[in-house]
Amino acid sequence: MSNVNEIDTVVFPVAGIGSRFLPATKSVPKELLPVLNRPLIEYAVEEAINSGIQRFIFVNSPEKQSITYHFKENKKLEEFLKVKNEFLYSLISKYIIPKDKIIEVVQSEPLGLGHAIWCARDYINNKPFAVILPDDLIHSKVPCIKQLKNIYKNNKKSIVALQEVKKSEVSKYGIIEHNNTVIDNMYDLNNMVEKPNENNAPSNLAIIGRYILLPEVMKELSENKLGYGGEIQLTDAIKNTIKTSGVIGYKFEGSRYDCGNVIGTLEAQISLALKNKEYMNNTKELLKKYNKNYKDTK
Ligand code: G1P
Repeated sequence: MSNVNEIDTVVFPVAGIGSRFLPATKSVPKELLPVLNRPLIEYAVEEAINSGIQRFIFVNSPEKQSITYHFKENKKLEEFLKVKNEFLYSLISKYIIPKDKIIEVVQSEPLGLGHAIWCARDYINNKPFAVILPDDLIHSKVPCIKQLKNIYKNNKKSIVALQEVKKSEVSKYGIIEHNNTVIDNMYDLNNMVEKPNENNAPSNLAIIGRYILLPEVMKELSENKLGYGGEIQLTDAIKNTIKTSGVIGYKFEGSRYDCGNVIGTLEAQISLALKNKEYMNNTKELLKKYNKNYKDTK
């Protein structure tokens, strides 16, 4: 029997059209675009698995079903590679998730991140759950969701991942306000604002796409209140649970890459290539070459 407080479920909101990657995303979901040789979504699933997650809810659009194909068996390819090339076989079989652990939910209208999470309401079994926004690729020693789960264990409150951002960038994020006691990178939150402008942002601590949420958040989301951009915002729903349940912000350990845009993805490619035995030497050579060319053209 699983414990009600144990977090074994993650929600991946993946229904977006990927407008910042058009035209590539006309036929290929942005979550399947590669960072090195792996699709972006695989990093998110790997993080969840390494954090002890066992149920995977994909809030998806009917056009993007290929995202979950990546985690299902492909008998023909598996049998072919098993005989031909064991290494390639290991690459395609490492993250196969049992069929009954993948739950696909359709978000039929693009009504915002809060709405996407609400679409998963019938599948969280009234238990706390994790949310991973795959656009935020996080490289860390301890997987980021595991860091949040560790905080949750002792606090039993909703937890949001935080990172400091430049003042000029606060309007891209949910930004938090906190009571001044900060212990071990944990902030006791008293307000959250979705995409404030630079002049009225309560801080420069931004919410990054990792959350542990109490089921109460679903109740707030069911109010269907529109927020920033005329959308149902997750930030607003979490904010409304601060008074009743408390919310903790946690400045996590690790590097985060914004793979929701081209330059952030380019940074992820370079940074991960430099950490990867297979690609590091060639990448260093390339960097030397372009650094030289860049200087020459100045
Ligand atoms: C979403 C959230 C925002 C958060 C951000 C992190 O925004 O609404 O609060 O700071 O993810 O990446 P989006 O990037 O989807 O506009």
